[in-house]
Amino acid sequence: MESRQPWVELDPADRKALLIHLIGFRFGDDPEAKLPEIREERRKYADIMAKTGGVQPGDTLLDLGSGCGFGTGRLAELGARVEACDISPAFLDFARYECREHDNIRFHQIAPRDLSPIANHSIDKVVSMSVFIHLNLYDMDSYFREFRRVLKPGGRAILDFADADRLFRWPRLANDDQFRESAENYRKDPGSLGAMVQFNSARGIRNVAKDAGLRFVKRRGHKLVFRTPA
Ligand SMILES: C[S@@+](CC[C@H](N)C(=O)[O-])C[C@H]1O[C@@H](n2cnc3c(N)ncnc32)[C@H](O)[C@@H]1O
Repeated sequence: MESRQPWVELDPADRKALLIHLIGFRFGDDPEAKLPEIREERRKYADIMAKTGGVQPGDTLLDLGSGCGFGTGRLAELGARVEACDISPAFLDFARYECREHDNIRFHQIAPRDLSPIANHSIDKVVSMSVFIHLNLYDMDSYFREFRRVLKPGGRAILDFADADRLFRWPRLANDDQFRESAENYRKDPGSLGAMVQFNSARGIRNVAKDAGLRFVKRRGHKLVFRTPA
């Protein structure tokens, strides 16, 4: 069977598909027509993530899974420097153009689970927005070990996840559009699994992070903050 690589094989010219991968159908069937609103929403979300993680003006940030670069641009305004990493050449193309006026962002194409372009202990905060919602615990295990390597002592990682617990509040599952839509897509195309939402347990994620040497700082809703030992 042909092996598929979700995200990596997206067509850079197909901006509609990129935007739908980014935000689903929350902005309707024609997201290109809503670009300013989508940009604003992602910038606001970057603000929330940065605040949750305590991002400071002098920080060197790692934006893991930078997507279209909407949040990346905002992080570049909040910190001193951003190392933006993504596995998708198409998203990196989009983001480079989106962030063309920022001279404090470097973009890196990475292999999944591998932050080798980033030097040891060079990062104050990792911010990963709407990326861990697509990862399984084995992916996370690799990334947490990489976070431990690239973060400075006392550095932090801020990420969001898709909480499996929300599915266990009946009749929530029956009405959970994201679960229903994903289950339907999976039936049609099991090869798309890597681009779908992966529901996970906060306790599982915390234990995997702990095993990689990260300390749990706090949970705010579906956001988790970890730190390296000082
Ligand atoms: C839903 S988008 C989020 C983009 C951006 N962070 C935002 O919040 O607007 C998910 C992004 O994560 C990237 N991605 C998916 N799997 C990844 C992985 N294993 N490692 C790094 N990036 C990944 C995708 O290419 C895509 O750019």
